[in-house]
Amino acid sequence: MKTKAGAILSSIRIDRSQDHKISIQLYMGLRDIILSGGLTGGDRLPATRTLASEVGVSRTTALDAVSRLISEGLLETRIGAGTFVSHTMSGRARIEAEPAAGEQARQLRLSRSTVRACNLFAERKRLPYKSQAFVTALPAVGNFPMAQWARLSARHLRSDRDTIMGYGDPFGLPRLREAIAAHLNASRGIQVNPDKIFIVGGAQHAFSLISAMLLNHGDKVWFENPGAIGARNAFISQGADLVPVAVDDEGIVVEDGLAQAPDFRLAFVTPSHQQPLGTVLSLSRRLALLDAADRADAFVIEDDYDGDFYFGHQPLPTLRSIDTNGRVIYVGTFSKTLFPSLRLGFLVAPDSMLEAIKAIFSSALSGVPTWPQAVVADFIDEGHFATHIRTMRQHYKRQHEILHEHAKLLESHMQVQRASAGFHTVGFFNDRTRDEALFVKAASDAGLTLSGLGRYCLTPLEKKGIVIGYGTASISEIKQGMEVMARILD
Ligand SMILES: Cc1ncc(COP(=O)(O)O)c(C=O)c1O
Repeated sequence: MKTKAGAILSSIRIDRSQDHKISIQLYMGLRDIILSGGLTGGDRLPATRTLASEVGVSRTTALDAVSRLISEGLLETRIGAGTFVSHTMSGRARIEAEPAAGEQARQLRLSRSTVRACNLFAERKRLPYKSQAFVTALPAVGNFPMAQWARLSARHLRSDRDTIMGYGDPFGLPRLREAIAAHLNASRGIQVNPDKIFIVGGAQHAFSLISAMLLNHGDKVWFENPGAIGARNAFISQGADLVPVAVDDEGIVVEDGLAQAPDFRLAFVTPSHQQPLGTVLSLSRRLALLDAADRADAFVIEDDYDGDFYFGHQPLPTLRSIDTNGRVIYVGTFSKTLFPSLRLGFLVAPDSMLEAIKAIFSSALSGVPTWPQAVVADFIDEGHFATHIRTMRQHYKRQHEILHEHAKLLESHMQVQRASAGFHTVGFFNDRTRDEALFVKAASDAGLTLSGLGRYCLTPLEKKGIVIGYGTASISEIKQGMEVMARILD
């Protein structure tokens, strides 16, 4: 069926377990399509024989449904020409509003867990791809050493075809796993054998895999409030019961997690640079969190998404490096250290999970593209990675200082927080009744990209504010952006 009607009618689903007669179900399906404007006056229906075979019913059933619609005046027949939607239905506006994702999933009878997830997902619009004030999540791609990258890429594309074009190792390219192990040892204090490192399609992929491995419906997950939106959605997909745990100047408040859900199964944390508040998890809290996980027989995801970009001296040890009981699953990404379209990240598994992870990766997954992995491995081995990180650390530090020089312009309305790592921070409104969305909209109308803090929250915070990314904008854009914000706040 190639007609417009054909495409639309193929969306009709007949449920043989329902009490309604099949002809009634088909009649109601057709009627809904016409009344909602999916087909309008003059649209031709396929022949009943075609309709019947498309929907999977007998021709008599299709004739029954069509006759009923004709008798109600919704369809009309023209001798020798076929059956059409009645002209009285002309001009009927098509109902444009798409059903919400959850409603659509329900109508399609997708799995119960998908319907639930679609209703609960935190909104995550298209992630940023354009360098401008004040996007978050995007590194300063303008500073990326593209010439070296292009040289290494070209070299790999000319290399042995079996290696770069055949199926890759499902655990990840061994050379890349070795290079990551060396990097983690040198920079993040993590001594790990490469066979515990698994290459994934970005951190988000790791969160989904870990959720699927660990969580049963209703399992409790400690989640920083405010916290990372992508990770939150991964846990929701798995039917987790998210426990909003407060975050203060020392990071996640372990006592609060224990008060709400001592029997948690998983905790998700961003210790090096809390997403989005920017605080660093204190050493005593790190130890308390590991202890709580041990007591609950739980695991902890350490999302070290931008921990390489610290501004001061050596940062606190990673959770993974002080985890003596195999509780921490460390997740790293190349989205910040290199660039996000690579879609490459890695997880470092605790010993206890190794065999299960290997079984899943080798039996059900086929790994991620090989040649970008080979390019990254060379990029690390030849020292470009370490140099790039050093350069970008200085870059983000400088951008952060510039942001703060101009933050004085906002002081009477907003306190921009000092960050000690990464390329975003938050600004808190002095007035706690201020509407974040209104401010974000006004800023957007003036050409600035900002996010309200509320988007990151499972339960509302008392403080209101915005998340400010300073990584990608030029110095003059940061300055102008702060002036624009000051004008809006005034
Ligand atoms: C907290 C956090 N973790 C990880 C990532 C990176 O995710 P991915 O590696 O899937 O690009 C992001 C992206 O912005 C993030 O905000």
